[in-house]
Amino acid sequence: MNTEQTIRTFVEFFEQRGHRRVVGSSLIPPPGDPVLFTTSGMHPLTPYLTGRPHPLGTRLVDVQRCLRTTDLDEVGDRIHLTVFEMLGSWSLGDYDGQQSVRWGFELLRDGFGLDTSRMHVTVFGGDSQVGPDTESLSTWRDLGLPVELTGDENWWSNGPTGPCGPDSEIFVWTGDTPPHGTPTTDDRWVEVWNHVQLRYDRQEDGTLRPLSQPSVDTGLGLERLLGVLQGKDSVYEVDVFEPWTSTVSPLWPLDEPSTRIVLDHLRSSIVVIGDGVRPSNTGRGYVLRRLVRRVLTTLWREDSGRTLCDLPTEPIRHTIDHFGLSIGVEPVRDVLLGEQERFRDLVRRGRRVVSRRLSRGPLGERDYQDLHETHGLPRDLVRTLLTP
Ligand code: ALA
Repeated sequence: MNTEQTIRTFVEFFEQRGHRRVVGSSLIPPPGDPVLFTTSGMHPLTPYLTGRPHPLGTRLVDVQRCLRTTDLDEVGDRIHLTVFEMLGSWSLGDYDGQQSVRWGFELLRDGFGLDTSRMHVTVFGGDSQVGPDTESLSTWRDLGLPVELTGDENWWSNGPTGPCGPDSEIFVWTGDTPPHGTPTTDDRWVEVWNHVQLRYDRQEDGTLRPLSQPSVDTGLGLERLLGVLQGKDSVYEVDVFEPWTSTVSPLWPLDEPSTRIVLDHLRSSIVVIGDGVRPSNTGRGYVLRRLVRRVLTTLWREDSGRTLCDLPTEPIRHTIDHFGLSIGVEPVRDVLLGEQERFRDLVRRGRRVVSRRLSRGPLGERDYQDLHETHGLPRDLVRTLLTP
């Protein structure tokens, strides 16, 4: 199943069960929202998950692009992406969490044809404030799937306050051998779909107030699901990355984790730029700056002659079209090249400063601090690009 068929199968399954499709939002939350970027499908729906009626009713489905800065350091492995897409379904005070997991199971097994012997579930096992989610435990056992009980990992919240509750996470086995172990003991169990029962509203003082109208919020990682459906070892091998792997990987040959960082960060940068962000030293602009500079550091570590001027048009075009961004290829290129120029200047200046320091002996802790605070040269940059 390719990306388009996968999205269609998901959306139609829920439409046939009374859900209406909402259009996914941009990565930029509305003004006043405390987070920098939309981190999950539920985020733009928060007001409706705490009681405000939604104009399209109580059952919703959508595809939402998300960005998690918390995952930045994981990028380079098989399954993490900075910008990714989440297929989501919601019950706004309508059906309960047990109905949601039954439908989830049905869709994975019958709609996507996944072998149930490759599935494992984790369920909230309780903590000092809330007891174990015994209802979900018995539903999953009825459905015949193995269940592991965990603590925090099966509690969803989108921030320190707001709607939250216990969740069930569905994992799929991605190893070459028959499945063994559990999701917390073997990372070849890859989480694909989270079903959250939003039952509480966390208050400023940390207490939980039960929601008068509990809701269900689910999120299925599109690229991970595609990896499973297309039998690929990593999310970078699925069809939606093909325009990147076929053009950029041969252009700049690198080890696998570095290639993944370059592909992910460039693609994510394009989406962030398309949603209106420009590089800067604070907030969203700083996240974008870090993404572009990490690409350049990775490329220049091996060959300082590499330049984003060589980035082909095809993957930029594909990303713009896939995410429906209202920006052209050339303005995206201008932002990337502008940042490349600024970074090149910093590296040139930094090399001179660092080599003066090195002539006095090896760099110590004080030097690193001073290089960062006085000259704006972070330790990583000094180590990777500025020292011989
Ligand atoms: N909001 C839940 C998540 O992102 C579904 O995992």
